[in-house]
This record gives sequence, structure tokens and C-alpha cells, in this order.
Amino acid sequence: MAPSEANRRRVTILGSTGSIGTSTLDVIEQLGGRDAFEVAALTGSGNIALLAEQARKFGAGLAVTADEGRYEELKQALAGTGIAVGAGRSALMEAAAVPSDWVMAAIVGTAGLGPTLAAARRGADIALANKECLVTAGDLFVQAVAAGGGRLIPVDSEHSAIFQALEDDQRHAVERIVLTASGGPFRTWSREQMAGVTAAVARAHPNWSMGLKVSIGSASMFNKALEMIEAKHLFDVRPDQIEVIVHPQSIVHSMVGYRDGSVLAQLGCPDMRTAIGYALTYPDRPELNVERLDFAKLARLDFEAPDEVRFPALRLARTALERGGIQSAVMNAAEETAFHAFCDGRIGFLNMADIAEQVMDDMTGFGPALTMDEVFAADAEARRRAAEIVAKKEMAA
Ligand SMILES: NC(=O)c1ccc[n+]([C@@H]2O[C@H](COP(=O)([O-])OP(=O)(O)OC[C@H]3O[C@@H](n4cnc5c(N)ncnc54)[C@H](OP(=O)(O)O)[C@@H]3O)[C@@H](O)[C@H]2O)c1
Repeated sequence: MAPSEANRRRVTILGSTGSIGTSTLDVIEQLGGRDAFEVAALTGSGNIALLAEQARKFGAGLAVTADEGRYEELKQALAGTGIAVGAGRSALMEAAAVPSDWVMAAIVGTAGLGPTLAAARRGADIALANKECLVTAGDLFVQAVAAGGGRLIPVDSEHSAIFQALEDDQRHAVERIVLTASGGPFRTWSREQMAGVTAAVARAHPNWSMGLKVSIGSASMFNKALEMIEAKHLFDVRPDQIEVIVHPQSIVHSMVGYRDGSVLAQLGCPDMRTAIGYALTYPDRPELNVERLDFAKLARLDFEAPDEVRFPALRLARTALERGGIQSAVMNAAEETAFHAFCDGRIGFLNMADIAEQVMDDMTGFGPALTMDEVFAADAEARRRAAEIVAKKEMAA
């Protein structure tokens, strides 16, 4: 029986038009759609047609585009529906502040930090896909969620796997967490081969269907670097307890190793809807129409050590964790700036790690960020420095 209007779960999806956002709406549809959920707010950026279609379909209270210049277009697309419309940064913050019980944080990049923090501060449960929140703001973000009173539920498949394999009353017995990595499209490539690739080549992931940033991050392994830092803050482990292992089939989503030698893993087909569904109904497991693992067909699971020479991002993440302070935020901001320059064809694939490393080294003298304003200042300074290096590399090319 469908719940009454009053019993519907109120949800907000920040980044509803992206890969995680559309999968989230698919899960919501599978679990009863408008009969079971009240969609308080949806946000997107450039894809106005999809945002408007989603808002109509799910009867959203508010639809917001991050792109201020697209307000009229969105307003027109939703004319006569009664759905409130907003555009720009402050409207995004308003969307995050609209009362709802559960918020999917699926805006890509550091742009997601402000709205996700706003949702956390008002006490919503945060389903965290946007790893940049933890990489940039670290413990300040965790504290904001705790102070708001909501729960922080990971959505990244690796962190969802660890969350599922962590026995709450056995946290003291955890020896290590093991993040699996597909290795991306260049797993077996030399650095010389990688040097000349374009964004169109780098975004072709062998197993997962994802947004541009995370796909290219999988190719460079910067995505895994961010996940290592995310894991530290989510699970309160020491950097030396975080391992990365390359697992090309992307079936074992990650593992927890305990002091008795046991290793608990979570497995599944590479489909983000399983982790999203778990985050939506946690601690219940919803019935989902996703592909089931067929072990006979699978036949084998491979694992290999990552190569930190060909993929320096992993080494940079360890450096950032060891140095502490703002280094993770700096790494993230410099890499994000370099990622955009790579996508625009201004720098090469390997330059992304070079630039992140150079900015990290240049900013070792900066103290820790004790407030969110200081986090944003460190982020802006790292972006400025990274942009300068991009410009110099372009001139030299
Ligand atoms: N995709 C995955 O399988 C996956 C897995 C684990 C974690 N994650 C994480 O989840 C987050 C989202 O990833 P995704 O792959 O879903 O990204 P995506 O497909 O690129 O979608 C990003 C979403 O953010 C919106 N957006 C883009 N720029 C924005 C801005 N400046 N301000 C506000 N909104 C903006 C996009 O709007 P428009 O599309 O309308 O422009 C879209 O709704 C990332 O942090 C990623 O690391 C993704």
C-alpha cells in the first residue's frame, strides 16, 4: 500500500541531472516514486531540459539551475506547473535549505561543498556522492553533519562497501580498509602512451558509466586519490590503514580487514543504484531491479598492486594525508583546475598530476584551516596557483 501524503519521505537531490542524480531518481521511481517520496528540491546546471522534465515527473517543490543565465529558460520550461524556480549560487543554497529528510549530494566538484554543508547544518541525512566535501573540508564537514544531527551515509561504491562491511561494535578490531580500483582505461598503458591522450579517450571507462570528472579521474587515478582521503574522514582510520588494490572487474567494491585476519567484502555488479538504494533506505536493503552477479559467468576475480609511478595521484594522496592541514584541499583544487584545462585541450593528461604536486609543494607553509572561510581561501589560492602553472605550460608548448 502506498504511504499517505503525510508519510512520504522528503528528499532533495543536489545534482539531479548528472550520472548519480539520474540514477537516484531511477531508484526513487523503483521504490514507489511520487507515492512514496516527496521531492522537495532538484538542482542541475547546464541541462535545463532534463531538470525541467525531472521536476515535472516527480512534482518537485523547487527546481534550481546553478547557471544564473538560464533562469528564464527554466522558468519557461516549468511555466504553469506551480513548481518554484531559481538560478545561481544563492538559489542552490536555498534548494539545500528547503526542509527535507534526506539529501543526495551529487553536484560534481567543490561546487557541491557549500550546498551540501547547508543541508548538513539543517540536520538532513546526507547521502554523500560528492567526495570533494570531505577532501576539501575534512573534519570540519564531518563536524557540521554531526552538529546538524543528520547521518552521513556514503554513496561512492567503495565507501558504501566499507560502510556495509564495518561491524559497528568491532571498529576497534579494524586493521585496514582496502579500496578497490578498476585501474581505468590506461591500467596497462605506459606513461609515454598516456602523455598524448585526449579527454574523449580518457573518459571511456571500461566498467562504470559515470560523469566526465569521475571518469577522467578514474583514468588518472585521481578519483582513487580523493577516495583515500574521503575514507580517512568517513571511517576515522590512519593513513597507513588505507590500502588501494587494482581490481579490473570492479566486482569487489572494497573490503575491511580485521585483526583476526578476516576480510569482509561487499560485491555486486558495477551499478551505482545499489549503493544509492542502500543510502536511501539504510539500514534496510531495498528491492532493486539491478543486474545480479552470476559467479559462474564471472569465473575469476583479479587483483594487482597499483603502480604509483605511472599513476602518481595515489602517492600525492598519501603525501596530502601525511602532511595534513590544507594539503588535501590544495591537491583537490589544483587537480580540479588542471582537469578543466585538460578537458579544454590546454594541457596534457600527465600534467594534471604535475600541477597538483607543484601547488601542494608550494603551499606546504600554510597552516591548517580552522574555519570554513579558511578552507575556501585555501581552495581559491590553490586554484589561482594552478591556473598560473597551466598558463605557463601553455605558453611553453
Ligand atoms: N558517477 C558515478 O558513478 C560516481 C560514483 C561515485 C561518486 N561520484 C561522485 O558524485 C559526484 C557527481 O558525479 P557524477 O558522475 O554524477 O557527475 P555528473 O554526471 O557530471 O553530474 C554532476 C551534476 O552536478 C551539476 N553541476 C555541474 N556543475 C555544477 C556547478 N558548478 N554547480 C552546481 N551544480 C553543478 C550537473 O548539472 P548539469 O548536468 O545539468 O550541467 C549535474 O547535475 C562527484 O563528486 C563524483 O565524484 C560519482
